[in-house]
Amino acid sequence: MTEGVTLVDHPLVQHKLSLMREKETSTNSFRRLLREISHLLAYEITRDLPLTTERIETPLQPMDAPMIEGKKLALVSILRAGNGLLDGILELIPAARVGFVGLYRDPETLQPVQYYNKLPGNLDERLTIVVDPMLATGNSSAAAIDLVKEAGATNIRFMCLLAAPEGIARMREAHPDVPIITAAIDSHLNDHGYIVPGLGDAGDRMFGTK
Ligand code: URA
Repeated sequence: MTEGVTLVDHPLVQHKLSLMREKETSTNSFRRLLREISHLLAYEITRDLPLTTERIETPLQPMDAPMIEGKKLALVSILRAGNGLLDGILELIPAARVGFVGLYRDPETLQPVQYYNKLPGNLDERLTIVVDPMLATGNSSAAAIDLVKEAGATNIRFMCLLAAPEGIARMREAHPDVPIITAAIDSHLNDHGYIVPGLGDAGDRMFGTK
């Protein structure tokens, strides 16, 4: 496994991902499965968050109870498909700050074009998790992380559902300090920049567009 890449090969994740890949899976099921997998990926990506203790009182006695240390996390969704992962993580970490980066892929050059950028403050004091289900060429993800770094973030992780080897290589080259967590690494990209075998266009499948 490439350094800095965590593959979440838990049977539940793999089973749900296979259901998402099937072309007959409905929009409704696709969204639900993505939300469920995002819980499992979020569990993995946050497993080493530092804890501190706070004094609380149970009905029986006071205790020093473990609590996550530091400022609230920041989640940054790469529009629009990132929102599918974002919604699921927010169910687990409802107090997180949320930012959005809007990038579309120029179909000719496959290069990202920015149309929106709204990020939370104090990113230098937060763990920032950037989310996009498909790490394909890696160009959009690398560009989004450029923006997050320009806004001050230094502690960044990237979470996706499917990665192509090309996307992983691009991200490792552009941002070797950013760990990647993914549910699968597929074979390659086709000439249109789609992940093969993949699951098609994640945004279209999630929102029922064409
Ligand atoms: N974006 C998608 O939605 N699917 C791919 O296969 C690649 C990029």
